[in-house]
Amino acid sequence: MVGAGVAGLVTALALAPRPVRLVLRGRLGGDGSTLWAQGGIAAAVGGGDDPALHAEDTERAGAGLCDRAIVRLVTASAPEAIVRLAAWGVPFDRTSAGGWALGLEGGHRRRRIVHAHGDATGRAILEALVEQARRTPSILCEEDARLVGLVRDEAGIAGVHVRRGDGHTEYLPARRVVLATGGIGGLFPATTNPPSALGDGLVFAARAGARLRDLEFVQFHPTALDVAERPLPLISEAVRGAGAVLVDEDGRRFLAGRGRAELEPRDVVTRAVWAWRRAGHRIFLDARRAPGEDFPRLFPWIHEVCLRHGLDPRCTPIPVRPAAHYHMGGVAVDGCGRSDVPGLWAVGEVAATGLHGANRLASNSLLEAVVFGLRAAEDLARDSPRPAPPSRAQTPPPDEEDALGRLVPIVGESLGVERDAEGLRRGWGAVHALGAGTVASRAGTLALLLMIAAYRRRESRGAHTRTDFPLVASPLGRSSFVTLELLRQGLDGDGHTPEA
Ligand code: SIN
Repeated sequence: MVGAGVAGLVTALALAPRPVRLVLRGRLGGDGSTLWAQGGIAAAVGGGDDPALHAEDTERAGAGLCDRAIVRLVTASAPEAIVRLAAWGVPFDRTSAGGWALGLEGGHRRRRIVHAHGDATGRAILEALVEQARRTPSILCEEDARLVGLVRDEAGIAGVHVRRGDGHTEYLPARRVVLATGGIGGLFPATTNPPSALGDGLVFAARAGARLRDLEFVQFHPTALDVAERPLPLISEAVRGAGAVLVDEDGRRFLAGRGRAELEPRDVVTRAVWAWRRAGHRIFLDARRAPGEDFPRLFPWIHEVCLRHGLDPRCTPIPVRPAAHYHMGGVAVDGCGRSDVPGLWAVGEVAATGLHGANRLASNSLLEAVVFGLRAAEDLARDSPRPAPPSRAQTPPPDEEDALGRLVPIVGESLGVERDAEGLRRGWGAVHALGAGTVASRAGTLALLLMIAAYRRRESRGAHTRTDFPLVASPLGRSSFVTLELLRQGLDGDGHTPEA
């Protein structure tokens, strides 16, 4: 198992007492995107709600690209997933009558966001799972061990290379590997993700021969705090669910009259905020009326972050901007988290299951991580053994030079909220101009794969907005799949690299 966010930990815990070696780049509980998740976890557990409604909302947000069977499976499993997490000790917030306290977020027609400590759901889930993992003798935790390569042979996955904190690289033979390495937000200048979220797992999977799916779909959150920090603090969508509205510098509510306004799905709100910002306006989230004086009680963590920046949301509108937040794309997997490569599973944000389609419904990501963690564990438990992997030492992979300082602005320019063919060609050329080392590096490879996927989707759908192709090509979309082979073919399939 590589990665110890909610997806990795759930998989490892559900496999107990079967032995699991858990490899993670930092300290257990100290890193990864789960920690930053605020809003909560979506489940149809409230009065008047139903998993079928949750499924409809998920599909509507996904803009014609969701896998219906997966959507039904995950939304139907959601209530049980909450019970399972609560049994592992997650202190979900309750009403005075003892039921789940439920929040509301964009795209949901019912209150169905189960949360913990108000706006610190990710942290609360992670702390409970870490506590369980520490008490589970079958989980062997290897901290400070970064994945630097997957090894495969004719039978499939054969092992992993990990680099220890002291720089030493070790080969660990394994016929079964689960990637739970998280997303790609660290590739973008304005991001809510930790800088370590660079999509390493995606590239290693592709190098091992796995297909990657829907890479062009990057979700930008409309309300990151607009301050000079990286990552940008998130102002949860649940704040809008509690009544806050988006306004400009003149107090104009520029989303008023558009459907459910601030509670439209995330891609819709982000595009509106982006367009208004591009037109020269500043954007604020005004929470003074609602949730008003309740802000610190409902959102203690966000309140504290705002105060640290000299803003009290009870009396001052909060400056916000869009920022890269979540990747719908990932390693293509089936309903049990299996990739195309024998012995390789992927769970959590690194995977593309078909649940999110072109635009994830808010708070469906922790849900997917839990449901697929449980399903992958069941599948691994059933999996029949293959011939033992070679135990002899393999040649360790060379160090990779990522030139992130120069790459990140290029990614932000060409793969932002709005894209077009010219910008993508420029980005493609600019990455190549950084030098062969960068093109072969993990982050450089991933940037090019995203560009090719974005270039080839000649339509606007969900989170992928092409200003040169503003319409949806057909109501029912088709997923895109890429492999490393596409990089050799080039943007136009002719192997040509345009000038930067
Ligand atoms: C938020 O709280 O706005 C983020 C939740 C999510 O990304 O699902």
